[in-house]
Amino acid sequence: MAQLIDGKAISQQIKDELKAEVEALKNDGTDICLAVIQVGDDPASSVYVRNKKRACAYIGVESRAYELPEDTTEEQLVELVKELNADDTVNGILVQLPLPAQIDEDKIIRTISADKDVDGFHPESVGKLWIGEKGFLSCTPAGVIQLLKRSGIEIAGKECVIIGRSNIVGKPMAALLLRENGTVTIAHSRTKNLADVTRRADILIVAIGKERFITSDYVKEGAVVIDVGMHRDAENHLCGDVDFADVEPVASAITPVPGGVGPMTIAMLMNNCVETVRS
Ligand code: GUN
Repeated sequence: MAQLIDGKAISQQIKDELKAEVEALKNDGTDICLAVIQVGDDPASSVYVRNKKRACAYIGVESRAYELPEDTTEEQLVELVKELNADDTVNGILVQLPLPAQIDEDKIIRTISADKDVDGFHPESVGKLWIGEKGFLSCTPAGVIQLLKRSGIEIAGKECVIIGRSNIVGKPMAALLLRENGTVTIAHSRTKNLADVTRRADILIVAIGKERFITSDYVKEGAVVIDVGMHRDAENHLCGDVDFADVEPVASAITPVPGGVGPMTIAMLMNNCVETVRS
């Protein structure tokens, strides 16, 4: 039986540590405020935003919600972000993605002041990550590192294979595993003989975006398997990019979906909110 990596429990532990830290900061007169901007009312985004606000309330961070109509212009959103950049009572700014088609996401991400970039998406945050300077870390990959560390899984010297090369998961994941002294490979849609690559992995991180795509054929006996995917299947069940039932017997440790990586993203967002005021 593989070790089940319990993201729900680990994220709860992190949020409880942060709650205590925020309480101590409050006692010293430091409050934290996160501005959360949602444009339009995409149902999935509404769920994420609600969960983020809830997590803020839990750890004692104020969340200030900005709900803008679907037809908001890029200029209007840029204006709001600039106002929040200049507002000393706002520590972090989160613009929920995706944005409507008329708004250039990269432009908005670049407009957010790098010292309020709690998503870690700003080019300055990304650059700092790659050169090993302190900065905001992209939440999902940072959550994966915490899952591994807090489950007692050593990264240094391990063959780490990531499937997926997005700016939000794959690329920052590679940088973080490298920083932990892993040997890192990024596989993607153009990789030839994918199973040959993934079967080298001691630690396999799957962010491929295809329902139950990774079966035991892709996994070395004893590998650690981290599933970043999230889908709702034809029977309306949540599942990941990994065929859990098929892979679990060959893995030494594995994350479930739900209850694996998912809850970690918000815990790490909360960590970034607290990071805005850490000295
Ligand atoms: N949409 C999906 N994931 C994320 C995320 O991590 N941050 C933001 N801002 N939007 C998202």
